[in-house]
Amino acid sequence: MVLDNITLINFRNYSKATLEFSDNINILIGDNAQGKTNILEAIYVLAITKSHRSLIDNNLIKENEDFCNLKGKVRVKNISRNLEFFLSNKEKKVSINNKQVKKLTDYISKFNIIIFTPDDLELIKGAPSLRRKFLNVEIGQIDNNYLNILNDYNKLLKTRNEYLKMNSSNINDKYLNILTDKMIEKSLYIYRKRFEFINLLNENIQNIYSDITNNGNLSITYLNNLNLDNYDEQKIKDIMIKKYKSNLKKEIVLGLTLFGPHKDDLIFKLDNRDIKLYGSQGQQRSCILSLKLAEINIFEKKTGEKPLVLLDDIFSELDDTKKNNIIKYINNDIQIVITTTDLNQIQKELLLESYIYKINNGNIERQ
Ligand SMILES: Nc1ncnc2c1ncn2[C@@H]1O[C@H](COP(=O)(O)OP(=O)(O)OP(=O)(O)O)[C@@H](O)[C@H]1O
Ligand SMILES: [Mg+2]
Repeated sequence: MVLDNITLINFRNYSKATLEFSDNINILIGDNAQGKTNILEAIYVLAITKSHRSLIDNNLIKENEDFCNLKGKVRVKNISRNLEFFLSNKEKKVSINNKQVKKLTDYISKFNIIIFTPDDLELIKGAPSLRRKFLNVEIGQIDNNYLNILNDYNKLLKTRNEYLKMNSSNINDKYLNILTDKMIEKSLYIYRKRFEFINLLNENIQNIYSDITNNGNLSITYLNNLNLDNYDEQKIKDIMIKKYKSNLKKEIVLGLTLFGPHKDDLIFKLDNRDIKLYGSQGQQRSCILSLKLAEINIFEKKTGEKPLVLLDDIFSELDDTKKNNIIKYINNDIQIVITTTDLNQIQKELLLESYIYKINNGNIERQ
């Protein structure tokens, strides 16, 4: 997949800017706070319809403006498409080839992105919700049905929780059972896709991690309270029915649904020990790198195309061996956009054929 160009209007600190990209390596160089990450964010938003770093969409609109707009030409399997993202205080719209796509979930997954940022360590250190968000964004990029089902599930969850809260003294079993059955049905798809994705990650990260670091055994454990190693529809149904039954009294008291994929989590294990509790900063960083590099393989296997890779200022934190190992993985035929404050941090051989843009206070100049 290739992004040929992008135009930003009223996005973050840009009034209007256009960049043409090389199929291979693109470098954005500039001092701090000039707008390098904002461009990576614009690319990410154009693909995913949400920011990777801001929970609130409105931050994306340039101060004192009332809308922002992104346009980009992408090439997937040699077919070019014009993607467009529009956001105002009132609405968010996306279109493909000037035709509005009503459901955001039908738009996402048309163009795949992997982003590496210094904040990624939060995926290990932060709350379980971040790891669920990771699973949802990444699985959603290769399966938009997953996002539809996840939306359905979240709506049911909200309704069920509200119902549990409202009716603590007089629960209508029938209605609650209907909600519960529907949630179980949606859960099955979510569990299936998460098992599948985590298994694929595990097939890939082990080798990548030992290649990057030359030692250690990295694996991911999927925590789902099902106590199963693999997806098994009938077993999961049985377990869920039992759990819902045995938890019901507690759920009515708390007014919360206590079991289901909304409680899932992941543990990254190095030599069988939780890397969050035992790993060094460097080991945690290598774990995240392996995870993202594994995703490049998985996306390519699933879609037949390599994703676009965004590297946000990650080279400053890595030693030369790791830099070289990463470049070995991300080889020639993949499009990359890299940000840096210092060209010396980037290997000479990468600079040779790359497009270099100088970013200065929301202005862009090709070097
Ligand atoms: N909605 C907005 N409107 C106007 N300016 C904004 C908006 N959001 C962020 N900015 C500005 O964008 C700049 C930060 O841009 P960005 O995060 O891309 O910097 P950067 O070049 O990646 O810097 P660093 O090297 O420190 O990571 C800041 O000056 C910030 O004030
Ligand atoms: Mg930045």
